[in-house]
Amino acid sequence: MEKKTCYITTPIYYASGEVHIGNSYSTIACDALARYKRLAGYDTVYLTGMDEHGQKIEEAAKKAGVEPQEFVDNIASKTSDLWKELKISNDGFIRTSYDYHVSAVQKMFEKLLAQDDIYLGSYEGNYCVACESFFTKTQLGEGETCPDCGAKTRIVKEESYFLRLKKYEKQLLDYIDAHPDFIMPLTRRNEVISFIKQGLEDLCVSRTSYKWGVQVPSNPKHVIYVWIDALANYITYLGYNNDETNFKKYWLDGDEVIHVVGKDILRFHAIYWPIMLMALGLPIKFKLYAHGWIMMSGGKMSKSKGNVVYPLTVKERYGLDPLRFYLCKEMPTTEDGLFTYERFIEQYNVYLANDLGNLVSRSIAMVNKYFGGSIEKVPNTDLNKDANNELERIISENVAKYHECMQSFQLQNAINAIFEIVGFANKYIDLTTPWALAKDENLKNELNDCLYHLLETLRIVTIMLQPFMVETTITIFDELGVDKDYQVFEKIAYGAKTSYKVIEKAIVLFKRLDLAEEYKKYGISE
Ligand code: MSP
Repeated sequence: MEKKTCYITTPIYYASGEVHIGNSYSTIACDALARYKRLAGYDTVYLTGMDEHGQKIEEAAKKAGVEPQEFVDNIASKTSDLWKELKISNDGFIRTSYDYHVSAVQKMFEKLLAQDDIYLGSYEGNYCVACESFFTKTQLGEGETCPDCGAKTRIVKEESYFLRLKKYEKQLLDYIDAHPDFIMPLTRRNEVISFIKQGLEDLCVSRTSYKWGVQVPSNPKHVIYVWIDALANYITYLGYNNDETNFKKYWLDGDEVIHVVGKDILRFHAIYWPIMLMALGLPIKFKLYAHGWIMMSGGKMSKSKGNVVYPLTVKERYGLDPLRFYLCKEMPTTEDGLFTYERFIEQYNVYLANDLGNLVSRSIAMVNKYFGGSIEKVPNTDLNKDANNELERIISENVAKYHECMQSFQLQNAINAIFEIVGFANKYIDLTTPWALAKDENLKNELNDCLYHLLETLRIVTIMLQPFMVETTITIFDELGVDKDYQVFEKIAYGAKTSYKVIEKAIVLFKRLDLAEEYKKYGISE
């Protein structure tokens, strides 16, 4: 049978920004989703990339004394290296300065222009001559001054192209209405609906005040507005307006298309992008998952506040998996998440060092001590009956919950389901008291039963952790002697692997951290 397809995208990152742990969330979370989908048997394509055009880049390059292309080449290569360091499993890395993207966007623009979904008009707004920028009324400083340099702005009229949003207002509302899971979570969906209901204005989609962008072929003094250029990446990567084989396979005929975005760019994806697709006569196809922000205790992360935390700093200090785990576990489905070192260390100690790390090391130690490292499956014993039943029930309930949550991008809840099992497995040791069973030769079978249950539980939990913890799970499987055939969802049911040969001495997966010591070492403030 042909595999089902799944196409997952992150937003393409601004080349004018930098990646900190806050915005790295979109990529890490999508990576978890992409890994999950691959494990679930989907033919998965995971795309991320760079948003490289616009006035900001043009200015930054000028300041740096280089051509914009050279400027973005450098940033794109650093960003793509960073994703490798974070073991992001993206299949593609698109850049909006790539020729194939530029030519596809130009064709798209000309098509919309030819069919009058884009028209030439004029834009009127407050303009700062020094900064060569338009500002909306809400952006302006007191007395209609420029929010960047403080100079008085003036009203300027500029020739501009517009995309007809108004025309598609009803069609979009109907689409949202007919597809209740198009925008998730529901709170975001409602936000979008009420925004559209206030009435859409046609969108200004070209600029003449800078050059670094995609030129309008039929009127080259205009460059295409960066958001139109950027949103199109999702289909130009698949070959839209070029070789359309993948576009057909993963979009037109695809089974699932998932865009993951932060809440700040919800409208672009929930309004402009579907309208562009409708105007192009293409199916909307995608589901949109909008997540919250990772905040610091003092609010947003920003250079001026001096509270920016970089993913590689956390990785170098505490390892990659704790970082990936923390971000996915801390971000609720509908709200913002929080990053402080204090909370990071607390969560690390509770879930990784204590719950998971201890379970692995205790289980391996007991299998070595009592059975020389090898265990076979035995029928459930009467003595352990209640604890076994409870453990098996908790496993099957939480595996089901995990799949449900992963399929609806509720990563926090999916991780919580995993740790429900881990938590109970630790309790199971207290309930079955293997050290007491070991004292009585007649209870060897009961002891075997108990330790087999622990190893199976660990194997199941490790299968589930794979999308989040990309290094630790390999180590645990190695320690337990679980080969590839038993690391998959098809074999997740309790009892699927019937014999084990574990490593002689368990590796310490997560060394407990002491907050005061960490403060001393790094002088952590956030
Ligand atoms: N270039 C646009 C996207 C164009 S997509 C057609 C952009 N880039 S960005 O670099 O600013 O943002 C990348 C992602 O990071 C977005 O999903 C954004 O919402 C997200 N985040 C930015 N700051 C964030 C946090 N502090 N926390 C979580 N995600 C945040 O927007």
